[in-house]
Amino acid sequence: MLRPFGWYDERVMSEWTAETADWYAAHYGEYATNRLAVDAIYVAPDAFVVDVGCGTGSALRRLAPRVPKGRLVGVDPVPRMLAIARERASTDPNGHRIEFAEAPAERLPLEDGVADLVLAFDSIDHWSDLDAGLREVARVLRPGGRLVVVKDGGLPGGARAERAWRAALGRSGLAVQHEAALAEGDVACTLWVCGAA
Ligand SMILES: C[S@@+](CC[C@H](N)C(=O)[O-])C[C@H]1O[C@@H](n2cnc3c(N)ncnc32)[C@H](O)[C@@H]1O
Repeated sequence: MLRPFGWYDERVMSEWTAETADWYAAHYGEYATNRLAVDAIYVAPDAFVVDVGCGTGSALRRLAPRVPKGRLVGVDPVPRMLAIARERASTDPNGHRIEFAEAPAERLPLEDGVADLVLAFDSIDHWSDLDAGLREVARVLRPGGRLVVVKDGGLPGGARAERAWRAALGRSGLAVQHEAALAEGDVACTLWVCGAA
């Protein structure tokens, strides 16, 4: 059964199971948004990067060569998704440097103020509580750290969803600093770089 979200009217596949994880990995596991977004952002070589709702770990595997001295942590609450992520990391030249943890955005297993960069690629609309997830992101970001949110095709729900999303960000003490539209072939996404308001 799909859960309502409250911050916009669209509903997404929010009940993730082993079956939906396998389906997602087979169809979208290396989806182009991960590559487009990672290639569009700056990351320091020693950055502490956390990918919330990391799925198969595609974004972190793409990012890893650019963060040779940093720490890379993928967080996802679905055990089967993490098993797939670990499996794909095991055949990647930098995969051994990626740590994975089973947890939802709403309870990040990290200390306060440790992360330079938090990624949430096609993930925020799957969180069960957007405000709680954003509070957690704000908690784990170090001063000056950034949250990068990506949404394939932009936010469903139009201007109202956009207002709700920015309002939720504001409640967590964050604000959009930069917005970009990325596209390649028939894949298009919106990227928001967020930092302290
Ligand atoms: C559409 S997939 C995106 C995966 C990956 N970021 C990508 O872009 O390929 C959404 C992901 O959010 C995860 N997810 C579901 N509920 C979540 C929650 N409460 N907190 C964090 N991630 C969640 C799912 O397990 C899934 O891996």
